[in-house]
Amino acid sequence: MKTRLLALFIFSSFLFLSSCTKDDETAVSPVATATPATQTITSGTATSIALTSTISGTTYSWTVVQSGVSGATPGSGTSIAQTLTVTNTVAGTATYLITPMANGKSGSSVSVTITVNPGIAIVTYTSNIKPLLVNSCTPCHVAGGSNPKWDNYATAKSNINGILDRVQRESGAAGFMPVGGPKLSAANIALLKKWVTDGLLEN
Ligand code: HEC
Repeated sequence: MKTRLLALFIFSSFLFLSSCTKDDETAVSPVATATPATQTITSGTATSIALTSTISGTTYSWTVVQSGVSGATPGSGTSIAQTLTVTNTVAGTATYLITPMANGKSGSSVSVTITVNPGIAIVTYTSNIKPLLVNSCTPCHVAGGSNPKWDNYATAKSNINGILDRVQRESGAAGFMPVGGPKLSAANIALLKKWVTDGLLEN
């Protein structure tokens, strides 16, 4: 009988204590989440990290350590949107340490690492555009068939306005390219545009 009572006592104290601890934690210390927790971006573009917490009205402040990258600065807010640029021709990183604060209490810091890849210095047909067009526009615009051939530098170059027009139409709209395929990614469309501004070079 004694043992049973003791067991009951221990069990109920455990319930009591664990519920207390839980309540205290959620009541005073915000638990922050950074989404996404890691990100890879291209040099010259912005990070996009959303900060949320278990307590509404939480504020966030961050410090940052950058390596081979410039543009990352300490700050505060509910999202981190900073344009990062590599300082050399190789990838660099920026590691943000974010601390949430609610009702005058700070929670544990969360860390987010951004990898910044160097952008392509100069877009050329041979290195960048031909692989993109052959990959997305086969079989209709390569050797054989009656459509203009994008695996030919001169043809691709002289049709670049038409190519840009067609790939930027709504997927499925009249004249949308590639026929039957998915819309080109924003990065690939940006690459085509950069080919134009870089001078439509072959190599
Ligand atoms: C499944 C076949 C198919 C695929 C894949 C395809 N096309 Fe086409 N494309 C056509 C056909 C058929 C035409 C002619 C009809 C028209 O103009 O809409 C055409 C026409 C075009 C034209 C107009 C050419 C002219 O003579 O004025 C452009 C520009 C074009 N395509 C770009 C592209 C690009 C860029 C891709 C890849 C991202 C692509 N197409 C993928 C079938 C295709």
